[in-house]
Amino acid sequence: MRPLNVLGVGSSMRAGSYGTKTLKVVLDTAQKNEAKTRLIDLSIIRMPMFNPDLSMQPDKEIQKVTDDVNWADAFILVSPDYHGSMSGSLKNFLDYYWEEFAGKTFGYICTSHEKGLPVLDQMRTAFRHCYGWSLPYSVSVNGEEDFNEAGEIISSLLNKRLRMLARDLVVYGKLIRGQFLQDMSSETSDTFAARYRP
Ligand SMILES: Cc1cc2nc3c(=O)[nH]c(=O)nc-3n(C[C@H](O)[C@H](O)[C@H](O)COP(=O)(O)O)c2cc1C
Repeated sequence: MRPLNVLGVGSSMRAGSYGTKTLKVVLDTAQKNEAKTRLIDLSIIRMPMFNPDLSMQPDKEIQKVTDDVNWADAFILVSPDYHGSMSGSLKNFLDYYWEEFAGKTFGYICTSHEKGLPVLDQMRTAFRHCYGWSLPYSVSVNGEEDFNEAGEIISSLLNKRLRMLARDLVVYGKLIRGQFLQDMSSETSDTFAARYRP
């Protein structure tokens, strides 16, 4: 298979977001594992609140996001912990898509003072409803403890988990995407991918 296309989505609106910094580390490591990468920073690309009535007339900026989502074979999604939930901006991003996520692999990161486990579970549940495959673990980031004042990661454990996440996403993402595309192009009807044929 060609190199895996990995799309990172950062969903904090905060300048200097720990989550978005972490995402860049994962994407750099994915590149070292021979993936191609792109980044959507939802604090820069402001997606309007999803409205199903308007979804047939996407504007230029939304079309660019849609092109990136279609380009991606695998995703790294990052959310801050907001009241034990994923950020509104990530949920809004998700609401624009559904079938685009099928047969693709997802890795999750949450920035939180308390690990953000409910947030990570919600992300996994939401993307599973869109038939995305999730890595069986996620990464929690505690900004105040894991970063120094210059905005650099000082936790060797976090660094190790981010490298593992990037490597596993590329390896497992390739297997899942490769099989999904093969099933899409075969004529066998009793596969998960069969219903996604044009
Ligand atoms: C509206 C709001 C709600 C928050 N709720 C929680 C929470 O329930 N639990 C928690 O640990 N942190 C909570 N936080 C703190 C953020 O999750 C934390 O600062 C995180 O590191 C922000 O990530 P970022 O640096 O990527 O923006 C909240 C922050 C905001 C602004």
